[in-house]
Amino acid sequence: MARQSALITVMTNAAYRAARGLKRDFGEVEQLQVSTKGPSDFVAAADLQAEKILRDELARARPEYGFLLEEGGVVEGTDPRRRWIIDPLDGTLNFLHGIPHFAISIGLERDGQIVAGVIYEPLRDEMFWAELGAGAFVNDHRLRVSTRGNMGDSVFATGVPWRGRPNHRSFLCQLEAVMAVSAGIRRFGSAALDLAYVAAGRYEGFWESSLNPWDIAAGVLLVREAGGFVTTIDGSREVIRAPSILAVNDRLHGALMAVLAQAAPSPDGA
Ligand code: IPD
Ligand code: CA
Ligand code: CA
Repeated sequence: MARQSALITVMTNAAYRAARGLKRDFGEVEQLQVSTKGPSDFVAAADLQAEKILRDELARARPEYGFLLEEGGVVEGTDPRRRWIIDPLDGTLNFLHGIPHFAISIGLERDGQIVAGVIYEPLRDEMFWAELGAGAFVNDHRLRVSTRGNMGDSVFATGVPWRGRPNHRSFLCQLEAVMAVSAGIRRFGSAALDLAYVAAGRYEGFWESSLNPWDIAAGVLLVREAGGFVTTIDGSREVIRAPSILAVNDRLHGALMAVLAQAAPSPDGA
């Protein structure tokens, strides 16, 4: 049985609490598609409500910490060294369309380093959590990245840019290169869960460009604590504010990085 620290218990309790509302609201989404108000406003309200619950709960437990909130932005704390980095609903488009794949993500940053992370997937009741130096877990079970070392047997996840986003052409080159050498590519629509799934060994790796700190703060720690490697697509270890992320098991990180490097058409490929 995995023993959680007091800090992780604070974080998981906040996530469980915020998830109650999200689960209830997700159940409403299909009906709302015919209502006059429209599902987008409803989902935006659910997102804000989840963020408020997380903020209130965490502030009650650790009043001195600051925040970086996806919706609310930066909130300075009296402790300048520590802040929560929060995505109250990762997988918003899935939620809006009634696709059951979304999560809450909470990371704790101390002196610029992520020291604790929680990603909660309410519909499967999977609580992924990790603390620096203490390992990564889902519920009570220890996580370990997959042991596959052969690209041809491997499944990779990614994020696909959409209307109005940059880098469509370079993404298509990456896709072409990875699909030629792997067993399959997935796009599930929650970067936080993509990272949690790499930590859990469900896929061998994940890459995406143009993410934000709240999408990945908790997941980066989960993958590293599960024995995986996380860098940018170019190999830098500083990923939280970087333009790309590459999170892979320890055996295939170099191989996927090499495939992506050869795929890039040009740095300014539109
Ligand atoms: C999004 C998801 C998605 C990723 C997008 C993110 P949101 O977060 O993580 O998988 O491809 O880049 O913005 O908007 O659902 O919180
Ligand atoms: Ca997100
Ligand atoms: Ca979000």
